[in-house]
Amino acid sequence: MYEWLNALPKAELHLHLEGSLEPELLFALAERNKVALPWADVETLRKAYAFNNLQEFLDLYYQGAGVLRTEQDFYDLTWAYLERCKAQNVIHTEPFFDPQTHTDRGIPFEVVLTGICQALEDGREQLGISSGLILSFLRHLSEEEAQKTLDQALPFRDAFIAVGLDSSEKGHPPSKFQRVFDRARAEGFLAVAHAGEEGPPEYIWEALDLLKIERIDHGVRAVEDERLMQRIIDEQIPLTVCPLSNIKLCVFDHMRHHNILEMLERGVKVTVNSDDPAYFGGYVTENFAALHEHLGMTQEQARRLAQNSLDARLVK
Ligand code: HPA
Ligand code: ZN
Repeated sequence: MYEWLNALPKAELHLHLEGSLEPELLFALAERNKVALPWADVETLRKAYAFNNLQEFLDLYYQGAGVLRTEQDFYDLTWAYLERCKAQNVIHTEPFFDPQTHTDRGIPFEVVLTGICQALEDGREQLGISSGLILSFLRHLSEEEAQKTLDQALPFRDAFIAVGLDSSEKGHPPSKFQRVFDRARAEGFLAVAHAGEEGPPEYIWEALDLLKIERIDHGVRAVEDERLMQRIIDEQIPLTVCPLSNIKLCVFDHMRHHNILEMLERGVKVTVNSDDPAYFGGYVTENFAALHEHLGMTQEQARRLAQNSLDARLVK
């Protein structure tokens, strides 16, 4: 089944490039950039990948991203991810990056963007993987800081397809960024947002009604609100679900309790994604394989999930 799932053509619509930084590359970049690390070796770092919630993960994820400094680093990070895509027949990807994680450390926006975009271009030419980049705002930071980040992005608008919203969800509702998203959409960007991962269904309503998003990232808590479920089904709003992430961050206590197949069977346009594969134990195929192993996902269901991912692309 693993080989069959791996060969299935699919798109990945929820992937944080910083979350694809494998421990081996993290250590190599730390050495290249003379960054001191608090972990003795790769094994010790891997052992630290045990989280009780989103925030515990984010603390480590931002710390890990500290080794990324040069254009070449961002190129290498993105290229390593694209090679994984190639190996798993991911034919299209729409990755996120978090510029503020880097600009707040003094790395110029342009350095980050140029490295990523060069790799995406080489991925298109050398690996045949199409892509569209999504600039994600950090929701634990202020609206003003998000506005500044949008200002920095405008001279490079052709490099992006959309803006997104990630980081600590609880206490940071989508409404906090309504004006930023209004401006981004007026400038021609599409919009997506993380909502309903740890946050309540109300945040999903806000993301739809105030941020006017095309897709909901995660969205698994939609099942708590029947009226919301009906809307998501009626309007065929895609959900970019990340099963292994949800288990690692204790959104569900076990994969056998995950609701993705239940949503699929109700007619929700759910897709399978890896979120932060270096931290959560696998790329897209591993996420599909976990659904087969623990929820009995059939080949027919896998085909529908993969087709949903191709249908839900922002760039066609
Ligand atoms: N949720 C919120 N923010 C994130 C995530 C996530 O799953 N991954 C990286 N940043
Ligand atoms: Zn995410």
